[in-house]
Amino acid sequence: MLDTDVLTKHFFEHCGKVPRIFSAPGRVNLIGDHTDYNDGFALPIAIGKRTVVAAAPRADRQIAVSSSSVAEKAVIELDGRAWVRRGNWVDFVEGMVRTLESRGLRIPSADLLVDSDVPIGAGLSSSAALEMSVGLALVSLAGDASLSPRALALAAQSAEQVYVGTQCGIMDQLVAALGRQDQALLIDCRSLATTDVPCALREASIVICDTKVKHDLAGSAYNDRRRECESSVSAMRVRRPDLRALRDLSPEELDLHGEVLTDALRRRCRHVVHENARTLAAAQALAEEDLAQFGRLMVASHDSLRSDYEVSCAELDLAVEVAIAVSGVYGARMTGGGFGGCTVTLVRNEMVDELSERLRRSFHDRFQRHPDIFAVRASEGMKEHARTGA
Ligand code: GLA
Repeated sequence: MLDTDVLTKHFFEHCGKVPRIFSAPGRVNLIGDHTDYNDGFALPIAIGKRTVVAAAPRADRQIAVSSSSVAEKAVIELDGRAWVRRGNWVDFVEGMVRTLESRGLRIPSADLLVDSDVPIGAGLSSSAALEMSVGLALVSLAGDASLSPRALALAAQSAEQVYVGTQCGIMDQLVAALGRQDQALLIDCRSLATTDVPCALREASIVICDTKVKHDLAGSAYNDRRRECESSVSAMRVRRPDLRALRDLSPEELDLHGEVLTDALRRRCRHVVHENARTLAAAQALAEEDLAQFGRLMVASHDSLRSDYEVSCAELDLAVEVAIAVSGVYGARMTGGGFGGCTVTLVRNEMVDELSERLRRSFHDRFQRHPDIFAVRASEGMKEHARTGA
């Protein structure tokens, strides 16, 4: 966890003001990937790695934003000036500003200083952590209590779609808003209803393996997958005119109506439809502390993401293959959008060291790479931190 006292001190040195401090977490999705934009189910946890924003009002109609870890500084002019995509992290900030403005929030002029220990572009949702921490800061400085956490999450999703260009679903922003300590969040991505599922594992750990690989096509391939799902739904309307989203199909209905699809599209749909069923079953298994069943569903999920949805890669497959061969591992899978990033493994506590060692060795032997391996716990969502003074 970042030291908010240090951030407060830096802010004071640069701006001469004592800031308010806000933060939002990264996330790990335990199961339910590429389901959110199909109106389906996901089961993420917020993690202890967070993006923190120090914020204080200023007098002109500008947002001045800088980062402790990246050199760029930027000034965002308020009140509807023309917007130009910068192609860097500031787009997320400006996206939040413009989106909240367009939803009627009178954005206050502000200095913002951002810091984060969420690994960037690793599939742990550094984007949503940035959007939500900035969003919470802006809404709080504006003194506007009318925007619910769900509405803020929807604004952040829209900011990312419009101002960054990723046609993301709602999972990351929602868990950044609503995650709770020791609880996984079962999300119904159609109604946005959420259910806390107890996840204070006593005998098991959730271990992340960050392959530190990011494949170039990740962004465009993500959008392609989304389009493939939408065109499958359109094609199947010949058979079921009322079909809204893949969420509405059971595996049996997909077998029936999927005849109108190409083989590739049928496999995409098979992933989504079965992943929804797996996610609901996994939430139930977690609630019943049936980790063996949970682990089996994780492995089935990875297989499906690899062979039907085709969003895995050699490094993720190796991390899963190595993990599930370690005794005491319940299950492992890639997590998030894919094409690189992280795997998540559920493992008995006493086998964490052995798992880490085997992953390190295998990565070194096969790819001459050094993954980052660390355990996470289900942590709290976005919040304002208590004032400590400069
Ligand atoms: C990314 C997106 C999410 C979700 C996942 C895959 O993290 O931002 O909305 O679609 O990929 O589950």
